[in-house]
Amino acid sequence: MTAHKKRLVVLSGAGMSAESGFKTFRDSGGLWETYSVEDVASIQGWYRNPKLIMDFYNDLRSQLETAQPNQGHKILAELENYFDVKIITQNVDNLHERAGSSYVVHLHGELTKVCSVNNPDKNFDIGYRKVEYGEKNSDGELLRPFIVWFGEAVPLISEASTLVRSADIFAVIGSSLVVYPAAGLLNDLRSSTQAFLIDPKEVSVPRGLKVEVIKEVASKGTEILRDKLLAEV
Ligand code: APR
Repeated sequence: MTAHKKRLVVLSGAGMSAESGFKTFRDSGGLWETYSVEDVASIQGWYRNPKLIMDFYNDLRSQLETAQPNQGHKILAELENYFDVKIITQNVDNLHERAGSSYVVHLHGELTKVCSVNNPDKNFDIGYRKVEYGEKNSDGELLRPFIVWFGEAVPLISEASTLVRSADIFAVIGSSLVVYPAAGLLNDLRSSTQAFLIDPKEVSVPRGLKVEVIKEVASKGTEILRDKLLAEV
């Protein structure tokens, strides 16, 4: 009979993968300084210039092939020995999975997958290869990146909300919490849930929410979080 493990729910953002070499979106030098969000991460951008979008994600996907999970990803995977860990990520990389996390909800899609332009449920993994605009699936449907763009619904948000409401312990790691509905997940926290925020910068959270801030990068912050949580186990 294994003792009941407390549920640790994590919401990760681009900062989680910064130490793995990925640019964040809104830091200085971030992706949105080089590309306009509208051009490469919105449904309008897709209709305007789909080839630019295919190239944008082809570049990110080839970067992912050589990127490695960092200490932060690995510590979260290790915490599965002590907690029932559920990862909710805004990131489209597969670094949580490659570090060993066994339960990852990708709110904004997955870089290694493509889907039919008619039906995102018709998606499949292509690994790290390039996909050219015009490539079709076996049903003759045009393929697009399996990414949730601005202006599109976030199908997994209700599953994520249920997870946040079930959390005994919650940690936001590496997110500026400015993009909804992901940022709104903090409003689903029960008052009894122990909440942490790991970020080297100030991040504003919903008023009245009690959050313990660990002002560190992901690799160091998760180490501090682990030590705090294991001291209480
Ligand atoms: N470790 C931890 N956090 C970091 C690190 C690091 N090494 N470096 C930067 N950060 C923090 C920044 O301080 C910032 O608060 O990570 C956060 C990154 O914020 P954003 O760039 O806004 O990324 P994110 O919150 O994930 O954006 C949400 O916006 O463009 C869309 O779909 C995209 O999923 C993305 C969403």
